[in-house]
Amino acid sequence: MTLPKNNQETIRRRDSTGALRVAEEWNWTADHYPRRPGGAKEDSGSGSSAHGALISPTRSWKPFEQYAILRSSVRRGTVPACVVRISRQRFLRRAQVTERKLTLTDHESGKTLDLPVVAGTEGDPTLDISRLHSELGYFTYDPGYGATASCKSDITYIDGNEGILRYRGYPIEQLAENSSFLEVAYLLLYGELPTSDQFAAFDRDITYHTMVHEKVNNFISGFHYNAHPMAILSGVVGSMAAFYHDKLDVNDPEQRDLAAKRLIAKMPTIAAAAYRHYMGWPSAYPRNSLKYSERFLHMMFSVPAEDYEVNPVAAKALDLLFILHADHEQNASTSTVRLVGSTGANPYACTAAGIAALWGPAHGGANEAVLNMLNEIGSVDQVGKYVEKAKDKNDPFRLMGFGHRVYKNFDPRATIIRKACHEVLDDLGQADPLLDLAMELERIALEDDYFVERKLYPNVDFYSGIIYKALGIPTSMFTAMFAIGRTVGWVSQWLEQSATPHRIGRPRQVYTGAGERDYVPIERRN
Ligand SMILES: CC(C)(COP(=O)(O)OP(=O)(O)OC[C@H]1O[C@@H](n2cnc3c(N)ncnc32)[C@H](O)[C@@H]1OP(=O)(O)O)[C@@H](O)C(=O)NCCC(=O)NCCS
Repeated sequence: MTLPKNNQETIRRRDSTGALRVAEEWNWTADHYPRRPGGAKEDSGSGSSAHGALISPTRSWKPFEQYAILRSSVRRGTVPACVVRISRQRFLRRAQVTERKLTLTDHESGKTLDLPVVAGTEGDPTLDISRLHSELGYFTYDPGYGATASCKSDITYIDGNEGILRYRGYPIEQLAENSSFLEVAYLLLYGELPTSDQFAAFDRDITYHTMVHEKVNNFISGFHYNAHPMAILSGVVGSMAAFYHDKLDVNDPEQRDLAAKRLIAKMPTIAAAAYRHYMGWPSAYPRNSLKYSERFLHMMFSVPAEDYEVNPVAAKALDLLFILHADHEQNASTSTVRLVGSTGANPYACTAAGIAALWGPAHGGANEAVLNMLNEIGSVDQVGKYVEKAKDKNDPFRLMGFGHRVYKNFDPRATIIRKACHEVLDDLGQADPLLDLAMELERIALEDDYFVERKLYPNVDFYSGIIYKALGIPTSMFTAMFAIGRTVGWVSQWLEQSATPHRIGRPRQVYTGAGERDYVPIERRN
């Protein structure tokens, strides 16, 4: 198939013998161009009110965008009711490229295999290699799964090159600006933004599940006084299965939904209890009158001796951070949740595994590592030295909060949080020298060839720690904060997986160890 050039288009399709033939030929005229309801000219920017004004593809539109619009209008034989610029991927999908196949030839055996192309709503096309081993005898090798899609998912879309993140189709920027964490949680879990009634019911459900069994508090008090909150969180969440063993049927959608709500509701309660245990403070119970993020701050910082007023600026900032952390498609911890979930394990075990994966400094532990790094750098005049260390391949030091497996242009969450960081510090009347240090580090690194060539940009964790610090949250709690927000992503992905047919996750390996050899008795070994 060719893109329209000089108003001419030829579509070729393979016939039953596999030969490519001209299937359709189009000669485009200006009449085929779509018109917009109300008639505003798409590219004028002037909001022209002339009814039925022509939408001509503009020079700024890429060829496939023009193409998609042209085709869609002619296919219907009329002007479309609503014309939108669509992405290349959606265009490819509409153009039924899903029927495409890639043919793989094994030159040794002479065998060939057609690999079907799986196209999603958006994103690069993906090869279905599930028949590769049975037909040609090959596995694939992809360490770190950099080029492997492990599942199909309707939840989150990321375009790393364009810096796009969308939950259920909604851009993260719009959700950060207009929504609340609990509304986003509903969206991620159920696929749509809630109506007021749906939201009220959901809010009520979450609120009434926030309290934990008193024995959970006993369990927490058994930890060593300076236990890391993530150790407590993963242990206690895993233990929740022991409290709800009568509601662990993963094949029952109602029980799954209940477990999802319990996890989202109780995670802040457990995280706050872990902090209070470390501080040696008595338990604080969840207040139903407060909203999700307010309630968490109350459980963290209130003491029996005096009243605690939740600062609305702090609650809003926290809510924003939870939104930004809520989901991130098949990242390491979410893939862990899905892998454990694929065995049929209960949701508490899956989530505990996700927490453990999140803890690593290459993943959710990075926000804690960023603050430690900034403290280690100490002052602006040391920044250059540390940038050099980060570039030195013989030095294990890396700039924490820089780089991302998927985002190779910018992390849209970092853009939002960077702005919020300044606003929160201003609103709270705090001047943090670490922010100045972070800004200088960002400036120098972004000008440096090493970082530019490798497309290493500040990620969400680079700034989140500074906000958490401004809210009075101790460094050791940073990753636990991330876990609270991400719980909704984990359970949404687990719910999606559980509701669809799936196989147990079981990757293969390239064995590089010793070949077969005979056992040697111990007395004959030297
Ligand atoms: C996020 C991260 C794990 C992604 O890893 P990845 O996709 O496997 O990328 P790689 O480790 O292959 O890095 C690619 C190159 O950039 C370099 N690089 C990546 N992140 C770097 C960093 N933070 N500081 C210095 N160099 C870095 C690597 O050394 C490598 O260089 P090379 O090509 O010369 O060998 C990695 O960038 C990192 O460790 N960042 C710091 C931790 C962090 O902020 N994590 C939070 C993620 S939200």
